[in-house]
Amino acid sequence: MSFPEIRPRRLRQSSAVRNLVRETSLEPRQLVLPMFVREGISEAVQITSMPGVAQHSLDSLRRAAVEAAEAGVGGVMLFGVPAVRDAIGSGADDPHGILNVATTALIKEVGDALVVQTDLCLDEFTDHGHCGVLADDGSVDNDATLERYVAMALAQARAGSHLLGLSGMMDGQVAAIRRGLDAEGFTDTLLLGYAAKYASAFYGPFREAVDSQLQGDRRTYQLDPGNRREGLREALIDEAEGADIVMVKPAMSFLDVLREVRDAVHIPVWAYQISGEYAMIEAASANGWIDRRAAVLESLLSIRRAGADAVLTYWATEAAGWLRD
Ligand code: PBG
Repeated sequence: MSFPEIRPRRLRQSSAVRNLVRETSLEPRQLVLPMFVREGISEAVQITSMPGVAQHSLDSLRRAAVEAAEAGVGGVMLFGVPAVRDAIGSGADDPHGILNVATTALIKEVGDALVVQTDLCLDEFTDHGHCGVLADDGSVDNDATLERYVAMALAQARAGSHLLGLSGMMDGQVAAIRRGLDAEGFTDTLLLGYAAKYASAFYGPFREAVDSQLQGDRRTYQLDPGNRREGLREALIDEAEGADIVMVKPAMSFLDVLREVRDAVHIPVWAYQISGEYAMIEAASANGWIDRRAAVLESLLSIRRAGADAVLTYWATEAAGWLRD
């Protein structure tokens, strides 16, 4: 009798067999490209801590979005970097504000090919850098912030945004925004609830990307990285409030939360591979310590395997190109 009797390696003997039995797929349509557009510049400005990622001008934004569409990615998520900021983030709901102007421009350019999405949060627009408005004692005022979010949601919907990314982590934000949009007839605008968004150290490069003014941290509204159940609870609340999709963010340090959320809700679950995750792989690759392309694709596959139906990633266009080769 030969030994061993059970040989799992049989399924790994050739690339043809491995291809046939691979459990998880990764396709361009499952990738969403986050993009930054900055007010008042005529040429793109590179972001030092995110090599290959730029703050776009309106023109370079349009060109990059067309490239993403041609590569077959599923959508783009827009972040605005305004020239002027104030305490309540007035630029966020100004129809002439950079994010809203850029949204309309992209809808015109690629709106039929891509799901054009907008970040809905005040932090890029406030002079204190918090995701909401502040009470007299300096704390973030949840319910006053909800009113600002509804105004921002209406401005984004009027600009044509297909999907609003609710990333502020205020209680009741999904319900308040859904109600506000429905009352104005925007019943088809999709809502992505950033349900399980953690107060992460890996947001570092993003703060440069949006010229963040933040002093201190976001720990009174973003989740504590030690909490799994609380992330799950947030996802269930967002689904009950009417979110069309929920997000887990960051991705790679929260793959367990991602799996649990995927198993618990009945709507699509997305994950955001954030700036620090991007920067880590770029830095190691630049030093020749890891194989860049293989590491990027493995990271995206692992996020899909953990349960993400789609992934926001700064590599979306490039990875889509590789996947189509
Ligand atoms: C906040 C926001 C953050 C990111 C997107 N929107 C994080 C933060 O500063 O708390 C991070 C994205 C990234 O790091 O790639 N509205």
